[in-house]
Amino acid sequence: MIRILKNKTLLLGITGSIAAFKAAGLASQLTQAGAAVDVVMTREATQFVGPLTFESLTHRHVVTDVMALLPDSTIGHVAMAKRAHIFVIAPATAHTIAKIAHGLADDAVSATALDTRAPLVIAPAMETGMWENAVTQENVAKLVARGAVVVEPGIGRLASGASGKGRMADVDDIVDTIRAVLGRGGDLANRKIVVTAGGTQEPIDPVRVIANHSSGKMGFALAEGARDRGARVTLIAGVHSQRVPRGIELVEATSACEMRDAVLREIADADALIMAAAVADFRPAQQAEHKIKKGQAETIALELVRNPDILAKVAERRKKGNKVEDPAISPALAGGARVSGGNGRNLVVIGFAAETNDLLANARAKLEAKNLDLIVANPVPQSFGNDLDQATLIERGGAVTELPPMPKEELAEKILDFVNTLR
Ligand code: C5P
Repeated sequence: MIRILKNKTLLLGITGSIAAFKAAGLASQLTQAGAAVDVVMTREATQFVGPLTFESLTHRHVVTDVMALLPDSTIGHVAMAKRAHIFVIAPATAHTIAKIAHGLADDAVSATALDTRAPLVIAPAMETGMWENAVTQENVAKLVARGAVVVEPGIGRLASGASGKGRMADVDDIVDTIRAVLGRGGDLANRKIVVTAGGTQEPIDPVRVIANHSSGKMGFALAEGARDRGARVTLIAGVHSQRVPRGIELVEATSACEMRDAVLREIADADALIMAAAVADFRPAQQAEHKIKKGQAETIALELVRNPDILAKVAERRKKGNKVEDPAISPALAGGARVSGGNGRNLVVIGFAAETNDLLANARAKLEAKNLDLIVANPVPQSFGNDLDQATLIERGGAVTELPPMPKEELAEKILDFVNTLR
């Protein structure tokens, strides 16, 4: 389940493109994420994929005709237009885009677009010539000017067999866009949240690195969750195995030093920093210019030097910054002064403690040493790369919340709930 999609009614419009078969995956993903998905199709779309496919995936009635009634005798496309939280047309053909841009309403999809007041997302799919044609671009610009969000088509193989721009965007990118649009004005709106994710890599020589097993899952879930609640999100990512989500600013930072620079730069106008990255504590004292040869040696020694502790640097910056002593902001903060990241706003700082032993004692010590508002204590290695995490949240004021094992997306929401309480 994805919180922003749960209990939402999404209206999916499908028009006559071969990419209609991908809309089945989209309808399935959205339904499994907890949304009610109404589907409205043009006649041409039904020639590519039958309505029964969508009825089976969504367990809801599908409308293919402007005159069609729902089982309760309401007019299908009108009822769907009214109850939708968002209208997504995927795939959207050049013809449908043109009709909507001009207010024509002679099929179920364009009639619904005219009637609904829900925000409109379109994922165009067409041949390159049609997409690049000035008239299509003008029509798309008209829709954008009226508030529509376009999920740009990608480059790839088209229906004709040729390769070019016009291929419908990936389903995951469309889902990202839906989540971001639904999340506008959410409880973290007007806040900038910086999240770090993944592991750092410290070069030994041009081909070898010191690395760790972090997958980046937790940090990416936090970034996506914050975006879904309306925040402006900057994700500072080390090495990870995640898909880069839409609606988030991504900053790549491979080594600990690069990550420190990026964090100190990005927090200047931020409201919260969540350090989920697994940062290497040490790096090789020197990076060899050429690949190190094994030669005849049975052992070799690698000299390591300490990496900067990014959270400690942030704590230093906070001490030097505009000090805003306001324990009234949260009772959890009595006893500790919160200070800004330099923008005159309070910076909420959250760290993670990944430990193999003495988890809570180690986490408490880090909360103190790094002057955090909250620390998320989780056991490793079992949480690395796992979809589930069992965490304990320890607040600066001493409150401890032991959470049951849960998907990282859900844990991310709990951490973001905490950020939201510190206004
Ligand atoms: O000290 P330790 O690495 O266990 O602390 C974990 C927390 O500190 C995490 O939030 C991690 O992102 C952060 N950290 C850091 N700079 C380092 C190492 C860890 O900010 N050099």
